[in-house]
Amino acid sequence: MISDVTDRPNLAELLAGAAQLLADAGVPSPAHDARALAAHALGLERLPILDVEPDADFTARFAELVERRRHREPLQHLVGSTGFRYLTLAVEPGVFVPRPETEVVAQVAVDEANRLLAEGRSPIVVDLCCGAGGIAISVAVEAVGSLVTAVDLSPAAVALTRRNALSTGVGALRLEQGDVREPELLADLDGTVDVVVSNPPYIPPDAVPVEPEVRDHDPDLALYGGGLDGLETPRAVIAAAHRLLKPGGLFVMEHAEVQQAATQAAATQAGFTDVHTVEDLSGRPRALVARLGATPTG
Ligand SMILES: C[S@@+](CC[C@H](N)C(=O)[O-])C[C@H]1O[C@@H](n2cnc3c(N)ncnc32)[C@H](O)[C@@H]1O
Repeated sequence: MISDVTDRPNLAELLAGAAQLLADAGVPSPAHDARALAAHALGLERLPILDVEPDADFTARFAELVERRRHREPLQHLVGSTGFRYLTLAVEPGVFVPRPETEVVAQVAVDEANRLLAEGRSPIVVDLCCGAGGIAISVAVEAVGSLVTAVDLSPAAVALTRRNALSTGVGALRLEQGDVREPELLADLDGTVDVVVSNPPYIPPDAVPVEPEVRDHDPDLALYGGGLDGLETPRAVIAAAHRLLKPGGLFVMEHAEVQQAATQAAATQAGFTDVHTVEDLSGRPRALVARLGATPTG
């Protein structure tokens, strides 16, 4: 442990000690996390390069944070936020922590919304399974003029999306607590939506994540998609997208690497065309993209 003694170690020594503790606990990015926790203990967003004399308060706060991280509490829960595209989103226990790979999924929706805006239209965009709201709020912020609706089954997720939308200055987001398996969900939008985007739960029951941060801290509702292949909820998302989209509308949904063929088959079977896959930032097939009916000409 980091001791609080009169002859206190300096900041560099505290950071080095913390990074070593975190490395010993198997934390994947110990030096980065030690700096992030030190910044948080100092009330800063990030740690500038400075030569501060750590006081006793800082040393105690930092030691407690490092101890919790050593026990694999997610860094994002400890500092209370995470970056997603241009946003800093609040995160909290009980709601899925947004991931970098989902930024690529959001990009597809943002691009389509901006394409429609450039044609003088006001695209209707629906984010199914919105979690902390990263995708929906990104579309609202990056494709201004889009009419965005976000849905999640978890009341905690809906509340967090509302909080993130307000703190980002997005006032016009429609938010619903609802179940994608419910055939009447957003029935007033049936056949009118330009883009349906989703990062649903999709992990199969026999693929329990090994990382304690995910396994023990992301809610099961956000992780496991149901059924033997984990695709029960994603199939419900595909069906909901098919019902909600207008002809020519675009659908994009994140999935696991091994689910490329199954999600493509499900989308084709549901009646989607132009079915293809986009890769995540490390080149892995991680998102289904499809159109309802013919590709729009303009
Ligand atoms: C993997 S998380 C993704 C959250 C967010 N889209 C993101 O990318 O950060 C999946 C989300 O789906 C929600 N969810 C799970 N089952 C659902 C259902 N049947 N209907 C609506 N939302 C559901 C969970 O509460 C969780 O917030």
